[in-house]
Amino acid sequence: MVPKKPHALLLWMLVCSGGSTEAIEPISTSIAVGMAAALTGFLATYPNIFYYFNECCRPEWISLNKTGLKVDLDRKLYGQHIASRIILKAVSGFMSNDNPKKPLVLSLHGWTGTGKNFVSQLIADNVYKEGMDSSFVHIFTSELHFPHASQLETYKSQLQQWIKGNVTNCAHSMFIFDEMDKMHPGLIDSIKPYLDYYDKLDGVSYRKAIFIFLSNAGGESITQTALDFWKAGRDREEIELKDLETLLSLAVFNNKKSGLWHTSLIDKNLVDFFVPFLPLEYRHVLQCAMAEMIARGHQPDPSVADQVARDVVYFPKTERVFAVKGCKTIESKLDYYI
Ligand SMILES: Nc1ncnc2c1ncn2[C@@H]1O[C@H](COP(=O)(O)OP(=O)(O)OP(=O)(O)O)[C@@H](O)[C@H]1O
Ligand SMILES: *[C@@H]1O[C@H](CO)[C@@H](O)[C@H](O)[C@H]1NC(C)=O
Ligand SMILES: *[C@@H]1O[C@H](CO)[C@@H](O)[C@H](O)[C@H]1NC(C)=O
Ligand SMILES: [Mg+2]
Repeated sequence: MVPKKPHALLLWMLVCSGGSTEAIEPISTSIAVGMAAALTGFLATYPNIFYYFNECCRPEWISLNKTGLKVDLDRKLYGQHIASRIILKAVSGFMSNDNPKKPLVLSLHGWTGTGKNFVSQLIADNVYKEGMDSSFVHIFTSELHFPHASQLETYKSQLQQWIKGNVTNCAHSMFIFDEMDKMHPGLIDSIKPYLDYYDKLDGVSYRKAIFIFLSNAGGESITQTALDFWKAGRDREEIELKDLETLLSLAVFNNKKSGLWHTSLIDKNLVDFFVPFLPLEYRHVLQCAMAEMIARGHQPDPSVADQVARDVVYFPKTERVFAVKGCKTIESKLDYYI
């Protein structure tokens, strides 16, 4: 998309050229200086001009809104006090470091429908002006992007090229790997170098990139812990990371079907944070239903939300504490009630 107005074209070149000057090279310096002078006036008149043009790999488009992330995690994410805390600390710590030693690698684990994709979106929303639509945010789903085990070698080189190409374009790129537990171990191995403490690989530094892995691995042991707390009559908020950490790494290590198990991602300490997601209870499903009504522009109706939340299936069979599908089907379920 090339902007149409001449002013805009010039601005686009100056704004987007970033580290490389290639885009301006054909223009002689004197013209550039003249244009820059004209631009200064133009910019003074339209201070928000950056937002009108193509997204660029620059702070105007990429910078963490820490308050925004905190507010989003507090208000929009339900029942995940541990995940919420770790994510805020990890992301704000990383983004405020001008010279990180390695890329940020987060591994999000938990039962289905508990908010793993949702949190990735909240992070993207508060780091990139364009959120998930940003051209610097990349999602890979094993079943969509890498479906055939027989083509592993092709996938490997393709994925490596994508990561290299995108990080070359923009150091602050974000890569989300969904369904990490279904990903071929060989493929995970192929991205390992990018997660490590290298200054540069083939002249490219990956240290400002963010990698987020999503999986259900360890979900059952997290759920068991949450159930133990519930049975003991203890508050869910009393569950601490240390109650889950060992369990989680054991579950991920010992699950021979999990791609993570086969790789040395874990024992090489390439993952900076393991983030557990707790299974959701009735009250959280209720909150999801209320939020969904508001998102649709309806007046939130607690009795409708209650109906939706009561019709959801809970487990274990006898206690019925946790929603089998978390908040995942609330959006479509709501259609039957309003
Ligand atoms: N903890 C939560 N707080 C608020 N909304 C949630 C939460 N969990 C899920 N939701 C809602 O449910 C939808 C589906 O959740 P999401 O896709 O994040 O689940 P997931 O953890 O990725 O599940 P899966 O493991 O099946 O991929 C989200 O888009 C969000 O609207
Ligand atoms: C950051 O987020 C807060 C809360 O959502 C918002 O009020 C504020 O305008 C945001 N700041 C920027 C620079 O976008
Ligand atoms: C960046 O990643 C996408 C996949 O998300 C890929 O299609 C594209 O070719 C990559 N860009 C480069 C320059 O490699
Ligand atoms: Mg998901």
